[in-house]
Amino acid sequence: MFSLKNKLALVTGAGSGIGASIAETLAKAGAEVVATDRDEKGGAATVTRINEAGGKARFLRLDITNEAEIAAVAAAVKAPLDILVNNAGVGCVGTILQTSPADLDRLINVNIRGTYLVTRTFLPAMLERGRGSVVNLGSIAGVVALRDRFAYTTVKFAVVGMTKALALDHSKTGVRFNAICPCRVETPWVAQRLAEYPDPVAARRDMEGTQLAGRMAQPQEVAAAALYLASDEAVMVTGSTLMIDSGWSAGK
Ligand SMILES: NC(=O)c1ccc[n+]([C@@H]2O[C@H](COP(=O)([O-])OP(=O)(O)OC[C@H]3O[C@@H](n4cnc5c(N)ncnc54)[C@H](O)[C@@H]3O)[C@@H](O)[C@H]2O)c1
Repeated sequence: MFSLKNKLALVTGAGSGIGASIAETLAKAGAEVVATDRDEKGGAATVTRINEAGGKARFLRLDITNEAEIAAVAAAVKAPLDILVNNAGVGCVGTILQTSPADLDRLINVNIRGTYLVTRTFLPAMLERGRGSVVNLGSIAGVVALRDRFAYTTVKFAVVGMTKALALDHSKTGVRFNAICPCRVETPWVAQRLAEYPDPVAARRDMEGTQLAGRMAQPQEVAAAALYLASDEAVMVTGSTLMIDSGWSAGK
């Protein structure tokens, strides 16, 4: 089950956290992985781990806001993708009054426009071949609002909306589009935010307390969802939001 043998996958933001775990999980299931990131060091480290574990991966530098870099990656990849994971994303803390126009532009540019640009580039070849799976990283913040995350909630709702629009427009093509919506996941992103608090240990306790399971999710627990959605077993699944949130979206 969930074999990705002979499948070609591209993961954005594969140099850290959830993206790195997804790249490793897809490779372990047999996919050939193109791990991309704007962070060359992180991306290269992911590829080294995959190849040392006997998988097949290569790193290509890709800032998803840069159209020239997207075109260069598409030219380098050549073959149609079987799996595209739009994982790269950035966040920002604050209410609308604490969110500057520059903050909002940055979040829109990476999370919405970047995901749009990458999908738009790789989709025609997938459609032409009549199969493929696109997995977008939404968030719990794409389904229910998070306090003090005005811009992040706004753009993650858009990512979920984009996923559904894509699924509807291409429902009879064999190409599927789904979003994964995790609660807080223990990644370098979250570690960085915690380090900014005067008492990081107390901040961590508070953050864990907001999770219904009483703990954060682990990157591999999110990667497992990506593996399922990428696989042929999920052939009937498109336009869905797979919640990895230990019940948060069910009510709190
Ligand atoms: N960590 C969480 O709690 C959490 C929860 C729900 C959803 N998510 C989503 O999961 C995704 C990954 O989050 P993470 O926690 O692993 O973050 P992370 O910061 O650990 O990793 C993100 C990676 O994306 C890369 N990246 C950022 N902007 C980029 C750009 N413009 N082009 C290419 N690469 C870029 C970074 O270099 C980094 O390697 C994001 O979309 C995030 O919104 C995270």
